[in-house]
Amino acid sequence: MKVKTALKYYELVVTCEDKIMKDRQLYEKLRIVIVGHVDHGKSTLIGRLLYDTNSLPDGSFEGMEKASKKRGDVMEWSFLLDSFQAERDQAVTIDTTQINFTHNNHKYVIIDSPGHTEFLRNMISGAAQADAAILVVDADEGVQEQTKRHAYLLSMLGLRQVAVVINKMDNVDYDIKIYEKIASDVASFLKSINIRPTKIVPISARNGDMIVTRGDHLDWYEGRPLLDVLEGFDPSRPPIARDMRFPVQDVYRSEEKRVIVGRVESGIVRTGSKILLSPTNEDATIVSIEKWPKGKIEKVEAKAGECIGITLDKPVFVERGHVISLPKTPPMLSNVFRVHLFWLSKKPLKVGDVYKISLSTFKCFATVQSIDRGIDTNDLSFQEKAEQVGRNQVAEVTLRTHDMIALDPYENNYKMGRIVLYDAGEVCGGGTISMEDYADQRRLQKPKSENIQKVDHLMSYSRRVARNGYGGGVFWLTGLSGSGKSTLAMEVERILFDKGYQTYVLDGDNVRHGLNADLGFSPEDRAENIRRVGEVSSLMASAGIICITAFISPYRSDRNRARESSPNHFHEIAISASLHTCEERDSKGLYKKARKGEITDFTGISSPYEVPENPDLTINTEVNNIETCVSQIVAYIENNIKLTTEELDLAGLENLEEKIRVH
Ligand code: ADX
Repeated sequence: MKVKTALKYYELVVTCEDKIMKDRQLYEKLRIVIVGHVDHGKSTLIGRLLYDTNSLPDGSFEGMEKASKKRGDVMEWSFLLDSFQAERDQAVTIDTTQINFTHNNHKYVIIDSPGHTEFLRNMISGAAQADAAILVVDADEGVQEQTKRHAYLLSMLGLRQVAVVINKMDNVDYDIKIYEKIASDVASFLKSINIRPTKIVPISARNGDMIVTRGDHLDWYEGRPLLDVLEGFDPSRPPIARDMRFPVQDVYRSEEKRVIVGRVESGIVRTGSKILLSPTNEDATIVSIEKWPKGKIEKVEAKAGECIGITLDKPVFVERGHVISLPKTPPMLSNVFRVHLFWLSKKPLKVGDVYKISLSTFKCFATVQSIDRGIDTNDLSFQEKAEQVGRNQVAEVTLRTHDMIALDPYENNYKMGRIVLYDAGEVCGGGTISMEDYADQRRLQKPKSENIQKVDHLMSYSRRVARNGYGGGVFWLTGLSGSGKSTLAMEVERILFDKGYQTYVLDGDNVRHGLNADLGFSPEDRAENIRRVGEVSSLMASAGIICITAFISPYRSDRNRARESSPNHFHEIAISASLHTCEERDSKGLYKKARKGEITDFTGISSPYEVPENPDLTINTEVNNIETCVSQIVAYIENNIKLTTEELDLAGLENLEEKIRVH
């Protein structure tokens, strides 16, 4: 490499890595999609953008003028798009037209797809990913059903940089009142679906007002023209500037060394770097980087896109599918995640189906836990909690794998956040990963410090419980807010206490006033809430206490982890009542607040509840009264705290019957 080029490259790498790439020149182009109701002026806007930025192919403007004249002298900007048709026909594979333009040294590309289905397939498969969107609304017609559907898709696709244009202001005499009314309608709808538009710009695409320049008719508008708004948007960072990901493709062993090969998908791999392997959580240091298989050229570093081999300083377990990262910026670990899915197979996808999935080089099986939302790509209508996803349909689905896997949400890493589903060896769908509503489970896995050692008790559990005459236990009540967990737990505690048992209730609202006062209701905070309670209840059970817990504990993974904390003493009790019933009870008035949008992440409304799959006991508070439910739980507990002969034997006791206290 020439010195100058090498220096330039080095500069780029360093700047990328430090994430201080302020200079837009270093970024890729800003990729824009323009969406909105079919008649609201999308094509005209594209034509106008190209004309005003001098980006039209030669002769196309003249062609448009001619065509417009024939139709009666009104300039039809949308005809300009026809000159791109040829390009579209060539791009058969991804079904998009990519329209480039440049303004003020900023590069843009408009990604246009021929129809809804293609648009969604491209966006979801990652074939054409956009960084920003322009939502077009007609000043005459205002927000229409299709405007809402398009906006909803932007939200689902995770597009957060959105500019709204209120077009055809010339048709309403540039009336500020009309603008204000529509702007307020759009803003409140977008807020309800989690989009905050950067700006709502009144424009006339036909006359060129407030697009590249301000024009003469919209002096009352204090904001900047559309192009200035686009200038403020960030193109997504190129793979080299993202966290390092080196998914393992294979491991070649020879007598003298073991070479881990694969392609660097993002970031930079360097000799001497400490690395972390996922999902095994093992660490090591890179000893060498080799260009594999050609000639084994030793390298000091390799950047995104390069295929390399590396050797490590120690013989950690590593196999195809593992992901190598830097220790401080690892991928997430989870056994449950969302996918924005595009379904290709004739056979519909259904809840409970199992598919082979591949995520970069990793393959495993995943079960469809729920179909959270289905979208018909023909009319873009959507359906909450769909039963199945048919061919060419789009859906938000939740998948569950048996083991913890390493993954990145698509918005963090578009190289790693993609998934393909297979049925009998055939590709049947694909999509992008989202961890919205689900927590990264990595930090819940092992102690932060390595310098800690366990100390043994001098007294066994069996001796403890033999004195009591019954075993300790964790009786874990899970259910929606308002299902009756706290009411039942407190009643059960009183009855057991009166019978002579040592018992204590850990209740969500109480614990959140003290031990867990630092936690809110994000998926991460809930996971931590349940982790701590799982540990505390386990300690209580080990001390011989009957611990009853009353937490929503909406995530299966969190409950399973609590079970793992008390392997022999954990009992999952599902407190079952429908969302409808809980909402009607609404004893704390929280559902009402959640419906009004005053509480975010509210279980059942805006945050998931994963029903227990195989609870040890189910209590239906909808059909049974409190008394019945309480006696069912008490009976279950008494039945399950009886000491086993083994436990008593272990304690070295004789005359079992006599030793057990009668309550
Ligand atoms: S958990 O999901 O982390 O297990 P936990 O049982 O501790 O929740 O707390 C639930 C209680 O907090 C509910 O009974 C309710 O009173 C209150 N609460 C406040 N905000 C929320 C919310 N966003 N979602 C659910 N419950 C909430």
